Amino acid sequence: MKFFVDTAVTEDIKELNDYGLLDGVTTNPSLIAKSGRDFKEVIAEICEIVDGPVSAEVAALDYEGMVKEADVLAAIADNVVVKLPLTLDGLKTCRYLTDKGVKTNVTLCFSANQALLAAKAGATYISPFLGRLDDIHIDGMELIREIRAIYDNYGYETQILAASIRSPNHVKEAAIVGADVATIPPGVIKSLAKHVLTDKGLEQFSKDWAATGQSIL
Ligand code: G3P
Repeated sequence: MKFFVDTAVTEDIKELNDYGLLDGVTTNPSLIAKSGRDFKEVIAEICEIVDGPVSAEVAALDYEGMVKEADVLAAIADNVVVKLPLTLDGLKTCRYLTDKGVKTNVTLCFSANQALLAAKAGATYISPFLGRLDDIHIDGMELIREIRAIYDNYGYETQILAASIRSPNHVKEAAIVGADVATIPPGVIKSLAKHVLTDKGLEQFSKDWAATGQSIL
């Protein structure tokens, strides 16, 4: 499973990229607002840090507006993926961009039928939001299962990008049910490496090693 980081904070992106853990980045208007940075400037900077796909979301809600904004965003760098909302206008824009060879990420997906439409529109990625479904007591992971089954039935190449991930369990479950990608907040990515028994074991190994009085170097 590929790991994207869900943030517009370039320091966090650099750190995770240096660990070799990043396959790409996703942003959204809320994350851009939180960063306090200029949208196009921060996307250009992220695209220089990471070789993989970087999602940048349109703000327009109508087809003509989305197409104009998509052209601007796609011109920032070769690895920009244009993020579009799952609306009829968003799907129409998706088809237009796919036919032009521009990569797309259709976002705010909350049902299997929406995901089916995104695949038919030729989306590169579909982003089902797990956490936001869980927030309203609907099993977000079940949605990923349904989309996986539908895409496999028909051989759709659209990649399932599990989004709105809030915990290590979300990451594990998304991997088990076969999401192609998970976009994960930086803190959750780092927490995946943590285990209390790893810390305890390492403490004991360090103590025992010191007691030998030896040095590897
Ligand atoms: O980028 C989209 C998604 O990951 C947002 O997550 O936590 O705001 O629901 P969240």
